[in-house]
Amino acid sequence: MASQNIYILAIESSCDDTAAAVLKNDTLLSNIVATQEVHQKYGGVVPELASRAHQQNIVPVIHEAISQANIDKKDISAIAFTKGPGLMGSLLVGTSFAKSLSMGLDIPLIEVNHMQAHILAHFIKEEGFDIPTFPFLAMTISGGHTQIVNVSNYFEMEVIGQTIDDAVGEAFDKSAKILGLPYPGGPLVDKYAKLGNPKAYKFTKPKVGDLDFSFSGLKTGVLYFIQKQVKDNPNFIQDNMNDICASIQYTIVEILMDKLKKAVKQTGINQIAIGGGVSANSGIRNALKAAEQKYGWKTYVPKFEYTTDNAAMIGIVGYYKYLNKDFSDLSVTATARLKI
Ligand code: KG4
Ligand code: ZN
Repeated sequence: MASQNIYILAIESSCDDTAAAVLKNDTLLSNIVATQEVHQKYGGVVPELASRAHQQNIVPVIHEAISQANIDKKDISAIAFTKGPGLMGSLLVGTSFAKSLSMGLDIPLIEVNHMQAHILAHFIKEEGFDIPTFPFLAMTISGGHTQIVNVSNYFEMEVIGQTIDDAVGEAFDKSAKILGLPYPGGPLVDKYAKLGNPKAYKFTKPKVGDLDFSFSGLKTGVLYFIQKQVKDNPNFIQDNMNDICASIQYTIVEILMDKLKKAVKQTGINQIAIGGGVSANSGIRNALKAAEQKYGWKTYVPKFEYTTDNAAMIGIVGYYKYLNKDFSDLSVTATARLKI
């Protein structure tokens, strides 16, 4: 007898993206993300506005996910949702909605850790993308996260390094803000960096222990440097935008690569999978490719839509938890600070 297909409806609402996806086993049928534009003019995510926008978006986003998947609600095997970590008000919208759906449809409810999901996103079946084999090191880099995780199995993973202050995406965005670029400035820094000289200016790398990261000093370094230069030449930024961006990006990529090299040395694992919005960065992608050649690493970068916050990654965790019959009861709560 052919084994039965499992359909997971997944919901993600931990920050400023309202997302829903439907998976048939480990294959994606639909992946809908409503990105909240409302935060742009504030230069960062405003939690109160985020939860309100989730309230507005969640019903249409879920409808669209089910409709694009071309399934009927009664086909859904389970509801997976992000329990944390994230913004409390945002998480509550997805959590409450998932609970109600699970109760209404009388199907299992599956809680998902957002950070595990960024890592297991690599297991969504996708033509042209290799799936990592265990064990591997996962580096999750985004506007909210910077960590290196030693992944032994789907659910056995250990954080071996993380930021002690800002996330790497914040380092990009805050530096971009100092340069007068709009939020989120990371992609713009990347764009200008491609045209500049990475060694034009030197920024100090932080001295932080073991495999941990620190990015707040870099932001201050960029600020002081720019203030000093602008005093002499008010057009300094405009005149040198490409070189400034290239030098900032070069420093950030060096910081990430230094720690990765150290992690490979400590663990003996040379398979590296990256995720999170910053994995779109051309500097880190090139550095990883170079490391494949130079050190024999095998590196994995997932499809872009699975690296930024999305529900497909919540769905793949839901699928593996479903296979383990690892279900949550209706008393489950959202948790802002949730560890892997
Ligand atoms: O994963 P994501 O969409 O959202 C969360 O932060 O959870 O990541 C967004 C972050 C922002 O900080 C954005 O500036 C950064 O990823 N980012 C980039 C690039 N694309 C996105 N940073 C550097 N270079 C890029 N190409
Ligand atoms: Zn995330």
